[in-house]
Amino acid sequence: MSASILLLPGDGIGPEVMVEAERMLVAVESRFGLGLEWHRAAIGGAAFEAHGSPLPADTLEKARNSTALLLGAVGGPQWDQLPREQRPERGLLALRKELGLFANLRPVRVLPGLEGASALREERVRGLDLLIVRELIGGIYFSQPRGERRVDGEREAYNTMRYSEAEIRRIAHLAFVAAAERSGRLCSVDKANVLEVSALWRECVSAVAADYPTVQLSHMYVDNAAMQLALAPLQFDVLLSANLFGDILSDLAGAITGSIGLLPSASLDQQGHGLYEPCHGAAPDIAGQGVANPMAMLLSVAMLLRHSLAAPAAAAAVEAAVHRSLEDGLCTPDLGGSATTAEVGEAAVVALSAS
Ligand code: IPM
Ligand code: MG
Repeated sequence: MSASILLLPGDGIGPEVMVEAERMLVAVESRFGLGLEWHRAAIGGAAFEAHGSPLPADTLEKARNSTALLLGAVGGPQWDQLPREQRPERGLLALRKELGLFANLRPVRVLPGLEGASALREERVRGLDLLIVRELIGGIYFSQPRGERRVDGEREAYNTMRYSEAEIRRIAHLAFVAAAERSGRLCSVDKANVLEVSALWRECVSAVAADYPTVQLSHMYVDNAAMQLALAPLQFDVLLSANLFGDILSDLAGAITGSIGLLPSASLDQQGHGLYEPCHGAAPDIAGQGVANPMAMLLSVAMLLRHSLAAPAAAAAVEAAVHRSLEDGLCTPDLGGSATTAEVGEAAVVALSAS
């Protein structure tokens, strides 16, 4: 077996945590001999600076020819004034769309010993293990019409939230399969009391439920889901949502684990090709200081090994290595520690090699 992985460091803390991911790939390769090889390409603001586009043609071509992609982060205040098409975020959104990565999986776990780091009281989060399944290439992020126009001498701007039955069904199937493999509970989040698009969402998800008799489906309005996540997150196992709602709920979930620096993600197409990235974003406030938490990135490497390379033993070993360094109390400032990015990455590599 051989697999080619495209590394897309991007902006802000992206390149810093990518260094640790690459070290982990070296360690995984020498321990498991998976035939991994990797290359780099530019994306986001870094790509705009070097090539005049946040998603250069060369990057897209390399992405299409890779088994899997690993991304750091995109964005930064220095590019906020650029036209929308040239902004760093556009590079990531276009990549997701071009590769058909419709399913975004965001596992949210409160690891034993880390309950104290949560923004919520410890007893409310102990043992939390949920999965957010977010639709990623439709909805209000991508639908037409969108834009800005002049009406009565004033500017107005508009976006459209649109989903077809087929788009809802394909993400619903994936969420049901995930729920069936977990505890069998799936909660679909929408705003069906107000939005037509959500009413269709609810109807389609309910129809797909017939194919999964072992899964118990519930529905929740997104405003209530946000409140319930903050009040009693343990009630959830798998949460399914449209693009924008999933974006918002996953940051809230990050606060529940204590740090968004712990949240990995996978964005998959129908065939299991995937883009793996930490949920934390570019974090310009701490970029360049060597204190970014590399754990979300390392856990993204684990997801890559599991979902795109069918290497569950290697994936489990990487996860265990990250948990091991946490158990040893080694963590970056976001979790109340004083370790550097490199120290945490190094400890995980040592733990993997010793396992
Ligand atoms: C995320 C991010 C992106 C999104 C941004 C960077 C475009 O917030 O992956 O959650 O909104 O999808
Ligand atoms: Mg987000």
